[in-house]
Amino acid sequence: MDIKAINIKKYERIVFFTGAGMSAESGVPTYRGEGGIWHEYKWQEYACQDAWEKNPEKVFDFHDLRREEALKCFPHKGHEIITDVQNSHPDVSIVTQNIDGMHQRAGTENVIELHGSIWRVRCENEDWIKEDLAEGPFANRTCDCGAWLRPDIIWFSDMLNQAVLQKADEAISNCDLFISIGTSGVVWPAAGYPHLAKSSGALCIEVNPKPSEQSNMYDFVYRGKAGDALPKLFIL
Ligand code: APR
Repeated sequence: MDIKAINIKKYERIVFFTGAGMSAESGVPTYRGEGGIWHEYKWQEYACQDAWEKNPEKVFDFHDLRREEALKCFPHKGHEIITDVQNSHPDVSIVTQNIDGMHQRAGTENVIELHGSIWRVRCENEDWIKEDLAEGPFANRTCDCGAWLRPDIIWFSDMLNQAVLQKADEAISNCDLFISIGTSGVVWPAAGYPHLAKSSGALCIEVNPKPSEQSNMYDFVYRGKAGDALPKLFIL
């Protein structure tokens, strides 16, 4: 694969858009690929409001496992490069579909988390959201008010958080360099982001070892792994 390094000084606003493939190289399973979570677990039983309302313990067990697995993994070179780019350029946004907090663990700041985070819970009864950074399972499954807590994650059929969505839209519709890494491009509205970036005139780059649903939208496609491609794309 012939990768040409990008001169970030040529771009005013840069967006990195990441999916499960970004974390896959750290050892976090993807959702749809080989060994993907949705092959092993029916999302209808573990990752939707209905499932949580019917059996919150089962849904918490599943998400405790996600936390424990994430903690066994560490950010890779690709995550570090994104942090380095953010520290070397005045306008870099990171929009991720990942809920594992791996970007933050690599030191990246202001990560726009489209699908929420396994490191936060909310109480729908008292209407609050809090971090739960316990190094393992969630510290609490119920609120002091007695209600079940809910992992602050966007599950199947959930509405996306409007404020988060707006931040992502703003960043992507104003960027002039858009780099998508490790997403199959099937889940909306994230699947529409390469279109949005393209229509805003951004140079669009995809890093993914396999074709995605949106591959034809990109100006350059690197068929490789995030941890191999990113250090070659960004030499700082
Ligand atoms: N580097 C880059 N890409 C990779 C790597 C890697 N090392 N390994 C795998 N990939 C690619 C796969 O080829 C695939 O296209 O990552 C992609 C992972 O796709 P999905 O599992 O569908 O993950 P994602 O696109 O992030 O899913 C979106 O779906 O179920 C929901 O909420 C969940 O956020 C998730 C959303």
